[in-house]
Amino acid sequence: MIPSQLFVSAAFSVFCVAKVISLDTFIAAVYEHAVILPNAIPTPVSPEEALALMNRNLDLLEGAITAAAKQGAHIIVTPEDGIYGVNFTRDSIYPYLEDIPGPQVNWIPCDNPNRFGHTPVQERLSCLAKDNAIYVVANIGDKKPCNSSDPQCPPHGRYQYNTNVVFDSQGKLVARYHKQNLFMGEEQFDTPKEVEIVTFDTAFGKFGIFTCFDILFHDPAVTLVKDFHVNTILFPAAWMNVLPHLSAIEFHSAWAMGMGVNFLASNLHNPLKRMTGSGIYAPDFPRRFHYDMKTKEGKLLLSQLDSRPYRPTVNWTSYASGIEALPTGSQGFKGTVFFDEYIFVELKGITGNYTVCQKDLCCHLSYQMSEKRSDEVYALGAFDGLHTAEGCYYLQICTLLKCKTTDLKSCGGSVDTAATRFEAFSLSGTFGTQYVFPEVLLSEVQLAPGEFQVTSDGRLLSLRPTSRPVLTVTLFGRLYDKDETNGSPRLTAAMPRVLLMVITSVVYSLCW
Ligand SMILES: *[C@@H]1O[C@H](CO)[C@@H](O)[C@H](O)[C@H]1NC(C)=O
Ligand SMILES: *[C@@H]1O[C@H](CO)[C@@H](O)[C@H](O)[C@H]1NC(C)=O
Ligand SMILES: *[C@@H]1O[C@H](CO)[C@@H](O)[C@H](O)[C@H]1NC(C)=O
Ligand SMILES: *[C@@H]1O[C@H](CO)[C@@H](O)[C@H](O)[C@H]1NC(C)=O
Repeated sequence: MIPSQLFVSAAFSVFCVAKVISLDTFIAAVYEHAVILPNAIPTPVSPEEALALMNRNLDLLEGAITAAAKQGAHIIVTPEDGIYGVNFTRDSIYPYLEDIPGPQVNWIPCDNPNRFGHTPVQERLSCLAKDNAIYVVANIGDKKPCNSSDPQCPPHGRYQYNTNVVFDSQGKLVARYHKQNLFMGEEQFDTPKEVEIVTFDTAFGKFGIFTCFDILFHDPAVTLVKDFHVNTILFPAAWMNVLPHLSAIEFHSAWAMGMGVNFLASNLHNPLKRMTGSGIYAPDFPRRFHYDMKTKEGKLLLSQLDSRPYRPTVNWTSYASGIEALPTGSQGFKGTVFFDEYIFVELKGITGNYTVCQKDLCCHLSYQMSEKRSDEVYALGAFDGLHTAEGCYYLQICTLLKCKTTDLKSCGGSVDTAATRFEAFSLSGTFGTQYVFPEVLLSEVQLAPGEFQVTSDGRLLSLRPTSRPVLTVTLFGRLYDKDETNGSPRLTAAMPRVLLMVITSVVYSLCW
């Protein structure tokens, strides 16, 4: 047997085995894609021009998919808006949309391309999955015609959805998910009438899927994990980084740890829009991550993961509720983090213990710095309240962070470099929720895999001195039930969610 035949036969037998037995591990891939954008013209392009642009993006995705498959990946995730880009109106996105059927139709577009009308993008994705024997996750746009028999039918006689699709390793469409929590400015798309809980089973575990801004809300994200017990989340995103607490790699890896699932995050690569940060995150620590504000190139990441990772249980209040709170008193000062007003206390010594409280939340920190520099200030902050800018969501946050300058008024502002390493830290809080996401972000927006852990009594604890200076150590808690304000019911698609106001060129959204 010549070597290439040997390789084919070995690959084939592995493939056959994979179909009958369940795999303990699998190889995941995510691709951070530098999307080719359409020209910024407000008038709609022809369907041919739209397809030509999508094919240019698909050429790049094809390179990543074939490379991932050659390295043994079972599944690859590509970003939200990765096939046609961003910045559309309802009309200008229309030529890019295809009618996407539900997976119950049992369809392999590669084998039967004309069964549901003109669907060249679904055909190409299906063939990429089939020809490379790999699950392919992509984000495209779905259109569903409607008429006056439906009182909610939009003016142009169609619904348009931001849609994730998954094709299995035979090219079959196995999942379709319409994004629930559209971000402000996504008015080219409609919110589905009901939240869609989309899962599928494989030999390497149970998968759930959602998109970008969905991660901040209960449905479908938390429901997929809590009630449907998925092992791995597939997460296409077009995520704009916001420091100190909402950079992509930081928040997505924290969600994986807080929820106890694998998390495959694929972001667009567009440094001008602050979009970068993709990763393969397991619940215990990130396996791969990528953050790159310097180059224009895409990036393929691969890693092996456990198919069914262990989910530890944490009581997020247990440790902190046993500590006697020393009053912060006159040392406390106010500071603003992403439009939210925190109470801070300055970390004065090279080592110390501090408590800071706001409303129902008290945060406790014990720490030891490697050195106490005169050119840097760190603070411990607490926030307990409804966040109302760029979305409405109730937060409880305990955070150790580097202040932007040595002026205490700057604490909470975005800063991406630091000089102070920490020998040790322990952060905890009296959280009123079981949904707390532990973040550690180091200088130059880097993660700290394996450098910390969460204990069952709810402490975020360092395991060793930090490998780089520290930007922030944070417990990011979400109180989903309190998103409802003034006793109004949970916000639904039919209700106006945000009132956009432009104040000094910063876009706010107000909640009611
Ligand atoms: C977005 O589109 C508008 C008009 O449709 C255009 O003026 C603007 O430059 C575009 N922005 C980007 C970043 O392409
Ligand atoms: C309106 O839509 C409904 C359901 O989508 C369909 O059954 C009906 O034929 C449509 N009516 C017209 C006039 O197109
Ligand atoms: C968590 O710990 C606190 C304090 O020890 C205790 O009161 C509470 O019942 C615990 N919660 C759960 C869900 O076990
Ligand atoms: C901080 O608290 C820990 C344990 O509660 C104690 O061992 C340590 O001495 C304290 N450190 C300082 C600087 O007060």
